[in-house]
Amino acid sequence: MSSYDVIIIGSGPGGYVCAIRCAQLGLKTAIVEGRETLGGTCLNVGCIPSKALLHSSHMLHEAEHNFAKMGLKGKTPSVDWKEMLAYKDDVIATNTKGVEFLMKKNKIDWIKGWASIPAAGQVKVGDDIHEAKNIVIASGSEVSTLPGVEIDEKIVVSSTGALELGKIPNKMVVIGAGVIGLELGSVYKRLGAEVKVIEFLDAITPGMDAEVAKTFQRTLKKQGLEFQLGAAVQSVEVKNNKAKVTYKLRKDDSEHVEDADVVLVATGRKPFTDGLGLAELGVELEPRGQIKTDAHWATSVKGIYAIGDAITGPMLAHKAEDEGMGVAEVLAGQKGHVNYKVIPGVIYTHPEVANVGATEEQLKEDGHSYKVGKFSFMGNGRAKANFAGDGFVKILADKDTDRILGAHIIGPMAGDLIHEICVAMEFGAAAEDLARTCHAHPTYSEAVREAALACGDGAIHS
Ligand code: NAI
Repeated sequence: MSSYDVIIIGSGPGGYVCAIRCAQLGLKTAIVEGRETLGGTCLNVGCIPSKALLHSSHMLHEAEHNFAKMGLKGKTPSVDWKEMLAYKDDVIATNTKGVEFLMKKNKIDWIKGWASIPAAGQVKVGDDIHEAKNIVIASGSEVSTLPGVEIDEKIVVSSTGALELGKIPNKMVVIGAGVIGLELGSVYKRLGAEVKVIEFLDAITPGMDAEVAKTFQRTLKKQGLEFQLGAAVQSVEVKNNKAKVTYKLRKDDSEHVEDADVVLVATGRKPFTDGLGLAELGVELEPRGQIKTDAHWATSVKGIYAIGDAITGPMLAHKAEDEGMGVAEVLAGQKGHVNYKVIPGVIYTHPEVANVGATEEQLKEDGHSYKVGKFSFMGNGRAKANFAGDGFVKILADKDTDRILGAHIIGPMAGDLIHEICVAMEFGAAAEDLARTCHAHPTYSEAVREAALACGDGAIHS
């Protein structure tokens, strides 16, 4: 038996970041991971591999649609699917090995296997029981499927199976127009598949600023994705390696069937806490299954903490990372804190979509008086040069104080541009603060400044 200051269960971005910060703060730390490699869903079957395929398929799209326009002539590349998957696997391996290196560098023990918690202060892995003053559960989430839909990861796949299909399907049906459905749907569309997205609600990407969601859907339609909104999938039947997706339109209850070679189920994820023994320990859960925690990530059982997808809040790697650092600071006797009002969200399609803070709909609902500063990438010289003029930056600021309340971007590098606004919001900045900050020319960032200028006396290039 070995004993630690803290044992972290799960090595995703929440867990491994927490482990590193614990070690940096002088705590004797171990991390438990049952997968063969560290890094959790994000590095193994989520964010990182999907970004590799988004990148390679975007390169293909550029070659097919924009190279000739820039005088780059030649044969359009063809897709070697096996090699593309091998590239993706290499990206995974480099990243997971990187985390392993960081564990060694910080003298964090990797306990290999699946953990349970027989009692506060104890973590059981295999037949061994390890002692810890504190335990942090960072066990992440798993795919949440629909009744009547069985995932086989071959024909009916979750995001995991979608990252290693045997071949590029002729036709893919995506259930759910959320982040996963649209990112992976656009990968397969660019690789030549016919892609139809079936979504329960009347708009894509629930919770997103409605103006951005509309523009986003229009852009994806232009790229060839088809949408059936307001439709509830009832079942998926697989016969002779083909799938039949049955759905009902919510407006008139009519039933329809869509054939597909592959069906991607992207209807959300749920906390993964199986086998931890939480019920026996008396760890309280929220009504929807997440582990209940206080503002400092303590569960209802003393000495047991939880972070990331296993607790409430957006299921985002960076939110988990921040909680991981925060809880490490709490365990080291410091004051860990996460500002949940400034957590960016990014969809890595092309163009990218990014947001932080309030949407216009939320501000209206709260009766908050606000102003809108909007700037189209069509007015940005760099974007025009790079065939990236689609989209806009929209900043929402308090009508009286000018303080930034939220920002929504659809356009080139939106996922990077959003952080300038995140920093501004952390400092309680006004739109004028951004507007008066000199921005290098020619950059996409100028569009952010122009949107901030539009909150005041007006943008220059619109
Ligand atoms: P999601 O919650 O983003 O979207 C699920 C969609 O499925 C919703 O639009 C919902 O209305 C729809 N839906 C549910 N039941 C349906 C039915 N019977 N028929 C048709 N549509 C139905 O979930 P998603 O895309 O699976 O992602 C899971 C989690 O992973 C999310 O929390 C997401 O934030 C996170 N994630 C984040 C990424 C990023 O930050 N870029 C990338 C991938 C995942």
